[in-house]
Amino acid sequence: MSQRVISGLGSISKLKNILEDEDSKNILFVTGKKSFLTSGAAAATKAIFNNFNVIRFNDFEINPKLEDAIKGTEIARKKNIDTIVSIGGGSVIDMAKLILAFLDIDQDVEKIIDGNIKAKISSVKHISIPTTAGTGSESTHFAVVYSNKKKYSVAADFLMPKIVVLDGMLFLSNSSDQKAFNGLDALAQAIESHWACGSTNESKSFSRKAIPILFRELPKIVSGQAKMEKFQNFMEAANLAGKAINISKTTSPHAFSYSFTSEYSIPHGQAVWLTLPKIFEVHKNALDCNSQSILNYRELKISIEEIINLLGINHIDISDRLKNFVKDLGLECSMEKLGLTTISSREDISKKVNLERLKNNPVVLTKENICEIFNI
Ligand SMILES: [Fe+2]
Repeated sequence: MSQRVISGLGSISKLKNILEDEDSKNILFVTGKKSFLTSGAAAATKAIFNNFNVIRFNDFEINPKLEDAIKGTEIARKKNIDTIVSIGGGSVIDMAKLILAFLDIDQDVEKIIDGNIKAKISSVKHISIPTTAGTGSESTHFAVVYSNKKKYSVAADFLMPKIVVLDGMLFLSNSSDQKAFNGLDALAQAIESHWACGSTNESKSFSRKAIPILFRELPKIVSGQAKMEKFQNFMEAANLAGKAINISKTTSPHAFSYSFTSEYSIPHGQAVWLTLPKIFEVHKNALDCNSQSILNYRELKISIEEIINLLGINHIDISDRLKNFVKDLGLECSMEKLGLTTISSREDISKKVNLERLKNNPVVLTKENICEIFNI
């Protein structure tokens, strides 16, 4: 499904016109609790509450839970919603997608999240305005949902938001740590997308544009030294990383990341970078010794060379260079220091891997590779 993207500093002010053009009447605002105010989105959308029938839904925590999505769906049905506007981070946008997926009546939501049946298409429009940069969720056709602490992914073409507004002003007020976590997620997504088995020429063109901007600007964004227009560029780059993984999907660093988050409460963006630097080196070393574990040698060789050039780093000590990048953002990137102090704890997490994402990795990771990545 094609998507209209409206970009620019202050572009959230265009929302009223967009809603008029879309002939929207009954609108569900899915928002964060505090971020809606602190981002400036509440002030910028005040007029909309006066001109349309708007109901706000923010009664849910981060990492969307099935029961909360069902609650939101019931509100949307009762109020006869024709448009959903999601304003927030990845969890908020995913919540809006889940409501859309469950909206059509007489659907077995358990079967939808299990992947046994497809969600029925809804004609309700979804306009998405991220206040972080970013998960890229505003430009993907899938959403994460947790049920009984288990993570599921709901995917359908119609879940791609119809219109996206990218306004760099909205993530200015994110804390330094939030900017670092979200920026690292975007950069990992751009890098993983580039080397993913599922990459295409189109996804590579997105990640190619995103990688240098995200890598170069993130330290300045986090330290507060970036100029306003750089915030806009950065948000657009994070969105491109989202567009890239929408096609290619993510790979092994994401595959290993989910247990770090669910069992050690390590934020997603940081969790991905606990393995990415070593995995990058494993890929590079596999090429250097022409390893049998590479699925497509020529393609990986071109990809790794290109990523190194896009990052502007040396071919040697890649893992240390990337770890220092994370440390310089003020974040810890050692599993040991984040609570995985014993070999058995690290071994345990290494086994709780998302197999579907792992299969998308360009190198089949050997037992030795896993030991290297997890310091076992
Ligand atoms: Fe991610």
